[in-house]
Amino acid sequence: MTVSDHGARHVAIIMDGNGRWAKKRLLPRVAGHKAGVEAVRTIVRAAGDLGLEAMTLYAFSSENWKRPEEEVNDLMGLMKRFILSDLDEFAANDVKLKVIGDWRALAPDVVALIDNALDRTSGNKRTTLAVALNYGAQDELVRAAKAAAAQGEITAETIEANLDTADMPPLDLLIRTSGEVRLSNFLLWQSAYAELYFTDKLWPDFTPADLKAALDQFARRDRRYGGL
Ligand code: FPP
Repeated sequence: MTVSDHGARHVAIIMDGNGRWAKKRLLPRVAGHKAGVEAVRTIVRAAGDLGLEAMTLYAFSSENWKRPEEEVNDLMGLMKRFILSDLDEFAANDVKLKVIGDWRALAPDVVALIDNALDRTSGNKRTTLAVALNYGAQDELVRAAKAAAAQGEITAETIEANLDTADMPPLDLLIRTSGEVRLSNFLLWQSAYAELYFTDKLWPDFTPADLKAALDQFARRDRRYGGL
C-alpha cells in the first residue's frame, strides 16, 4: 500500500480558529497566527509524505482587510517571514510555491519577495504549495470570465483555463477547521465536485494525523460527479 492510496491529488484548507486558539490561552491574536504558521510548516511537510501533488491554503482573503490594521500587519509580517525562512526548505524538498488571488496588489516588498520565491521554486515538481493571498473566489471568477471573454468565448472550459488554479490538479478535498461550516468565498468553482470535510479542531492544533484522518475518510467516500 502506497501513501497515495487515498486517491487524492489536491487538498485545500481553510485554516480557521487561530484567534480562538489564542483566546483560550489568554494570548494576543498574533500568538494564534504564529502558532498557525507552525501548523502550516508541519502540514506542508506532511503533504509530500502523504503523496499529495498539491495543497492550497487560505492565508489571507480579500475580506480580511476589514480586520484591525495591526492584525493585518501582523499577518503580512508573518507571511513575509514564513517565505524568507522556509524558502530553502522548499527548494531542498522539491516544493513549488504558487500564490493565488490578487497578490500583485499587495505592498511592493511583499510582491518582490513572492516574485523571488516563485522564481526560485518554479522548477520544483514533487508538491505544489499554493497560498491564497488577497484571494476571493468571486473576484477570481470575474477575472477568469473577463480573460475568457477577451480570448473569444465564455464556456466552462475557457473560464476554468483562466482560473488562478488552472495549472493544478482538480480539487479533491476541501478541509475547514474550527467547526465553522461554510466556504467563505474560497475556491467556489473548484469545489463543484470536491469532497468537503469539517473538523472542530482549531487550526494551530491540526496535525498530520488529522490530515491523514481526512484523507482516510476521503478514500471511503463514493464520488459520483452527478452520475449514479
Ligand atoms: C483564521 O483564524 C486564520 C486566518 C485569517 C489567517 C490564516 C493565516 C495563517 C495560518 C498564518 C499565515 C499563513 C501562511 C501560509 C504562512 P481567525 O483569526 O479567523 O480565527 P478565529 O475565527 O478563531 O478568530
